[in-house]
Amino acid sequence: MMGELRVLREQAEAELQQAGTEEAFQAIRTRYLGRKGLLTGLLRNIANVAPAERPQFGKECNEVKEELSARIDELLAGLASSKKDEVLLRELIDVTLPGRGVRHGRLHPVTQVREEICRIFAGLGFSVVEGPEVELDYYNFEALNIPKNHPARDMQDTFYVEENIVLRTHTSPVQIRIMEKTRPPVRILSPGRVYRRDSDISHTPMFHQIEGLLVDRGITFGDLKGVLTVFLKQIFGEETALRFRPSFFPFTEPSAEVDIRCVICRGQGCRVCGQSGWLEILGSGMVDPEVFRNVGYDPDEFTGFAFGLGLERIAMLKFGISDIRLFFDNDMRFLEQF
Ligand code: DAH
Repeated sequence: MMGELRVLREQAEAELQQAGTEEAFQAIRTRYLGRKGLLTGLLRNIANVAPAERPQFGKECNEVKEELSARIDELLAGLASSKKDEVLLRELIDVTLPGRGVRHGRLHPVTQVREEICRIFAGLGFSVVEGPEVELDYYNFEALNIPKNHPARDMQDTFYVEENIVLRTHTSPVQIRIMEKTRPPVRILSPGRVYRRDSDISHTPMFHQIEGLLVDRGITFGDLKGVLTVFLKQIFGEETALRFRPSFFPFTEPSAEVDIRCVICRGQGCRVCGQSGWLEILGSGMVDPEVFRNVGYDPDEFTGFAFGLGLERIAMLKFGISDIRLFFDNDMRFLEQF
């Protein structure tokens, strides 16, 4: 019987060596230690052992039982902890890996220029107003003294929504809308989108303008020069040379275009300024008396000046951008530079 006990013990150990899963360990436990198990069976047959050896046999049987049970517990515990290790290993996070960068948003260069111009004019007492992009022919052309046969009214140049409704071709109609509903003094700045049927390296069908208007008693061309000089020197730098060049607009009289000394070649003459050394920056003039009559202002009582400029053009010169279409491609590599 003692021999059988030893054999069972070795057999159990050998089986444990082979087993690798929780189920296998539990099966071994049942087979040896269960109520109908091999060891239990051996103990039940204690009657076959010589009476003198029974205490010793019983004691050894119990020892083997306990030892086997402890051994299985230990193997199960080892199994559980190696499972945990496996999970930890699988879910391992390398905290030293560089993170994925969060991309910072930036203001579009046209927005930056718009904000800067609005800030400068706010300092001069102008307030910012807006007008509709879908505009009546009356405000876009008629009230601004732009005659019916003017080339800008051509279908080739203007987007018509209906016969008398257009996508505004400039921000000047906001002048009319404001003067219609307010009495002087007027000091407004009006940024916004405008539309023209044009598309090439320096034209896009939609672009941005800012309109300015100042009306009061006793406003002269000197005020126009003073305000625009302060503005252009603030935006392009105090050392920037300016030139007021006679021009024509239907809604101003007299009219002037303002040029700045070329920011690229500093006046030497280059491709950007067409070898002239000067860059045209804005249109301006004293509000035409006919325009005042259209909004019910008495031109003998009030005078004023107006100006308009393209934001993309300013941004191109300020930032050295050569193709206007880049503003609207929404390419992050371009936009991130500003
Ligand atoms: N509206 C003109 C344009 O789009 C720009 C302009 C010129 C606006 C003279 C003005 C002005 O207010 O006085 O080309």
